[in-house]
Amino acid sequence: MYSRIAGIGSYLPERVLTNAELETMVDTTDEWIRSRTGIERRHIANDDQTTTDLAEQAARRAMENAGVTPADIDFIVVGTTTPDVVFPNVGCLLQQRFDIHGCPAFSVETACSGFIYALSIADRYVVSGGAKCALVIGAETLSRMTDWNDRATCVIFGDGAGAVILQPADEPGIISCHLGADGRYHDLLYNPYGTSKQRKPGDTEGPYIQMRGNEVFKVAVKTLENLVDQTLAENHLDKHEIDWLVPHQANTRIIQATAKRLDMPMDKVVMTVREHGNTSAASVPLALDTAVRDGRIQRGDLLLLETFGGGFTWGSSLIRF
Ligand code: COA
Repeated sequence: MYSRIAGIGSYLPERVLTNAELETMVDTTDEWIRSRTGIERRHIANDDQTTTDLAEQAARRAMENAGVTPADIDFIVVGTTTPDVVFPNVGCLLQQRFDIHGCPAFSVETACSGFIYALSIADRYVVSGGAKCALVIGAETLSRMTDWNDRATCVIFGDGAGAVILQPADEPGIISCHLGADGRYHDLLYNPYGTSKQRKPGDTEGPYIQMRGNEVFKVAVKTLENLVDQTLAENHLDKHEIDWLVPHQANTRIIQATAKRLDMPMDKVVMTVREHGNTSAASVPLALDTAVRDGRIQRGDLLLLETFGGGFTWGSSLIRF
């Protein structure tokens, strides 16, 4: 038994924040942002929109695309680092929205790698017969933990959600998932506060994303190179057999480095970073949905998804779409 992506959907909040607007907020320029990151605009949730709101829209679109209804869903896993509340988790909040009750529902908190971690878990449940219609989501409102006075981070991130429906299949589907993490790098990209570790008077860091971008960049490139090599080697695949690279949309230069390693022309790499910015756990399913809906990715294509995020965490998935 294998699992396959039966449907996909995504959602971006309506509000668009352009580089030109950021120029009025912090000491930056459109030219600097575009040349260093490739980002031109990003979507930002309205004040009354939460991660669950974004996830719900993406999930509804994925269910419609798969031809299933909420009543068919028997497993929900959400990759997110920006849940609405500490608990109930976003999966349980979605059960309420869809009026479905009883199936397992939980979230995984691995920053930008959240979707691929979630996909890997759902794949194992479907393959082992533990789920027949799994809803897998990556959804974030990173704008809520962005310091809008910090030019080194606020130009990078955006909000959004992407979702897939996984169902059993006789042929793969999800061919393999490869996950990894290394907590040694915890201080290169992090948010210093949560529920157990709270802000104290005199603390200098705010409850926002902290990043040493230059160092993150170097580890990301190296890790992703190793990750794609590992994914190809473990599947005895030649790099030229991959039809599409669907990378985490962190930064154009990081994506180009991975594409170069795979010897892939950039027109075989799905790029949404220009319009979406870095939407963390939502970035890979958003990119995948974009290329499926515009007709670039077709059924039967061989896809390599990869991601890298705070922790550090990373993950890849080889998929016959
Ligand atoms: N506008 C203008 N200048 C900025 C700026 C901005 N938005 N942000 C930083 N700078 C300045 C810095 O202050 C620094 O100035 P200085 O030389 O006077 O000290 C200069 O630009 C260079 O900073 P540096 O951090 O070395 O730039 P960089 O070329 O490494 O680009 C990033 C910065 C963040 C774009 C880049 O490091 C990056 O993309 N890193 C990976 C981040 C990432 O992907 N994180 C998520 C992983 S999931």
